[in-house]
Amino acid sequence: MIEFKNVSFWYGEEDGFGIRNEEVLREVSLEIPPGKFMVLLGRNGSGKSTLAKHANGLLLPQSGEVIVDGMNTRDEESIWEIRRRVGLVFQNPDNQIIATTVEEDVAFGPENLGLPREEIIARVEEALDLVGMAEYRNKEPHLLSGGQKQRVAIAGVLAMHPEYLILDEATSMLDPEGKEELMKVILNLRGKIAILHITHNVEEATEADEVLVMDEGRIVAQGKPREIFSQVEEIENWGLELPQVTETALLVKKQFPYLFETLPLSPRELVEELCS
Ligand SMILES: Nc1ncnc2c1ncn2[C@@H]1O[C@H](COP(=O)(O)OP(=O)(O)OP(=O)(O)O)[C@@H](O)[C@H]1O
Ligand SMILES: [Mg+2]
Repeated sequence: MIEFKNVSFWYGEEDGFGIRNEEVLREVSLEIPPGKFMVLLGRNGSGKSTLAKHANGLLLPQSGEVIVDGMNTRDEESIWEIRRRVGLVFQNPDNQIIATTVEEDVAFGPENLGLPREEIIARVEEALDLVGMAEYRNKEPHLLSGGQKQRVAIAGVLAMHPEYLILDEATSMLDPEGKEELMKVILNLRGKIAILHITHNVEEATEADEVLVMDEGRIVAQGKPREIFSQVEEIENWGLELPQVTETALLVKKQFPYLFETLPLSPRELVEELCS
C-alpha cells in the first residue's frame, strides 16, 4: 500500500519573511492498495505530477508523510527499495530509453540490482511479453513508434518486479493508435500490479476500479467511474469533460428525459439502453 498522510508541498524555500509559494499539494491523504487500477484526472496545474513524484520519493513532502509498504520516503535507507517497488513512466517516450537495443534497455534496471545473468534474461523476457514487445527485443529503440517506446519504458519498470506502476500522462504524446496499444497493455496488467494512470483523456478512466479527481492541490473526488461521471455539473467545475458516450446520452436525454436513468460509460451501454 502507498499511503499519503496529510501531504502538503510547495516548490521552493520559505523566503525568510514567512512568505512561501502557493501550496501545490494541500493535505492530500490517499491510499493506493496493491493490485488496484486507479486513474487520476485533474486540470492542468492541479498537482497530479507533483503527487506522482511523491509516490517514490522523487519529491519529499514539506509536511505529512508518504509511506510505501511501511517505508517512509524520507528514510534514505529505504529509498532504493521504494524506487524499485514504485515504478514511474513519464510523458515523453524519447526521454526514457537509454540503451541501444530494446533488450538492453529493459535489462538496465535488473542489472543495477546486481541480479544473476539468468535471472536478468528471464525478467527481460517476461517484461517484454507483458507489454507485447518480445519480437522487438533486438531492435534499436529509436526506430520504434511512440507507443512502442512507451511499452519498452513500461517493460523496463516491470523488469524490476515493482508493486506499483505510476503512469504520468504516458499516453498523452501518442497518436490514437499508440494510445490504444498502451491502454491494452495497461488493462492486461490490471490486477497483476497496482496502477495509477494519470491522464487528461477521460475515456481512459471509464474502465478504472477507481477514479480520483484533483483540483488546486486537493483530491476533490474519489469513486467508481460511474459515481464520478454522474456528477455532471461538478465535472465541469473540476475542468474535466464527460466521456463522449455519456455526453451523447445527455443530449438524447434532453429530448427523452425518461431515458438513461444511469448514464452510460461505454458504447455498449448506450446502445443497450437505446434498443431496450
Ligand atoms: N519545478 C517546479 N517549480 C515551481 N513550480 C512548479 C514546478 N513544477 C510544477 N510547478 C507548479 O506546481 C503546480 C502543479 O504542477 P503539476 O505539474 O504537479 O500539475 P499537473 O496537474 O501535473 O499539471 P499538467 O496536467 O499540466 O501536467 C503548477 O502550478 C505548476 O506551475
Ligand atoms: Mg503533469
